Amino acid sequence: MAKLAVFIVVSFLVAVAVAAQGGKEAYPPSATPQGSPSLSPPPPSASPTSQGTPLPSASPPIQAPTTPSPSPPIQTPPPPSASPPIQAPPPQSASPPIQSRPPPSPSPPIQAPPPQSASPPIQSPPQPSPSPPVQTPPPPSPSPPVQAPPPPSSSPPMQAPPPPPPVPAGLTVGFYKQSCPRAEEIISEVVRKATTLNPGMGGGLIRMAFHDCFVQGCDASILLDPTPTNPQPEKLGIPNNPSMRGYEVIDAAKSQLESACPGVVSCADIVQLAARDATAFLSGGRITYTLPAGRRDGHVSRAGDTLAHLPPPFFTLPQLISNFAAKGLDADDLVVLSGAHSVGHAHCSSCTGRMTSRTFDDVNPLLAARLRRQCPARPGPSNDPRVAQDFVTPDRMDNQYYRNVMSRNVLLDSDAALLASDQTSKMVYLNAYNAQRWEQRFAAAMVKMAGIEVKTGATGEVRRNCRVVNSS
Ligand code: HEM
Repeated sequence: MAKLAVFIVVSFLVAVAVAAQGGKEAYPPSATPQGSPSLSPPPPSASPTSQGTPLPSASPPIQAPTTPSPSPPIQTPPPPSASPPIQAPPPQSASPPIQSRPPPSPSPPIQAPPPQSASPPIQSPPQPSPSPPVQTPPPPSPSPPVQAPPPPSSSPPMQAPPPPPPVPAGLTVGFYKQSCPRAEEIISEVVRKATTLNPGMGGGLIRMAFHDCFVQGCDASILLDPTPTNPQPEKLGIPNNPSMRGYEVIDAAKSQLESACPGVVSCADIVQLAARDATAFLSGGRITYTLPAGRRDGHVSRAGDTLAHLPPPFFTLPQLISNFAAKGLDADDLVVLSGAHSVGHAHCSSCTGRMTSRTFDDVNPLLAARLRRQCPARPGPSNDPRVAQDFVTPDRMDNQYYRNVMSRNVLLDSDAALLASDQTSKMVYLNAYNAQRWEQRFAAAMVKMAGIEVKTGATGEVRRNCRVVNSS
């Protein structure tokens, strides 16, 4: 106990000293200049005239400030007024999956989640990383255990599942049933292999679905490679380059789909179905949902749109809420979808704000110390390791994220910001101790997000190669 007290005091002093140096958050990761040479060159079939139609600069003004906004100190949230005292979630019983959709493939999920307990064991499946190797964080250090929320004392309130979001016009569940009966199975199998090999890739696919939908709608605009006529597509935008991963998984699925049913399955649908399947695998089959399909692929992809539409990690809560509202998503969707940060990684450059912790209420000193151990003091393009977003259950899609938010053990300022209002704090608490509430809402919010500004019919096409638009 005395050691812990000394540790906390020392951590605080170090944090104060580092903060006094005035470190500033860069847009992660490492604000790599656009035009990274790391992308594959466009295949020969790329039509130089088919991309980059003259693009009216209709984008709203860029929202991302060059310096982190002076976010107000995050207050310790009051307990939600109408709720019982905060508890760790009850052990998860054999509650049924959200919908009747069977798990995405007959293959067993990569890892069945163990029953949740108040302090789940730290468990990290091996991550054999294909090239380039993902930098895995060092194994859990001998640091003292993370502060867990108080133990349960009564059952959480029961809540009705959210109503299913309306199906966007032109999309239907089972869209490929006649035209390509094995489409969803093929995608599921490719995703299963990729996430089994590297669970972090599943996180990449879930994030890709979000980044695709928020920029030009869910139309696979994120997948287009640079061409001479469009040298700066979305994938070179700062929020995507170089942190986005999973492009090769989409390519692998597309290649098999083109063999099975040429010209039928859109890349936009593959992105959303792959995120759905990654969610199912990483949650051990607990989060499954039917997803309407029929999206078509877009022609427009501009790096400049990414900063205008994707929220940076230093956004304050009001900024996050208004960013999501612009896409038809509400505060509950924001809180629920942020739960995706239960898996995957962030580059050190994305979380410098947490390393230089400002107050004990804001960042758990143990997390700040962990990040200072795992990350260079000034991450840059040549030295920017990845760290697990949820270091308690890093590869499991679960509601541990919300317990991490409550114990100030989250990597991004935008995660911590969820405690900045009574309304969102209450949602965090409800998700933290009612796993099923979060699982159901996450599924519904993913379907809702997958309906943002979709293109159907003549407003889009079915690309033959997800990286290039078809020849005009
Ligand atoms: C609320 C606003 C959000 C902000 C500010 C935000 C920001 C970020 C940042 C900065 C990273 C780390 C990137 C890196 O350094 O490599 C990240 C990772 C991630 N985000 Fe978000 N995100 C948000 C919402 C979402 C949503 C809605 C989803 C999906 C539903 C999502 C899924 C993910 C996943 C899975 C990762 C890990 C990716 C990987 O391991 O490759 N995020 N996010």
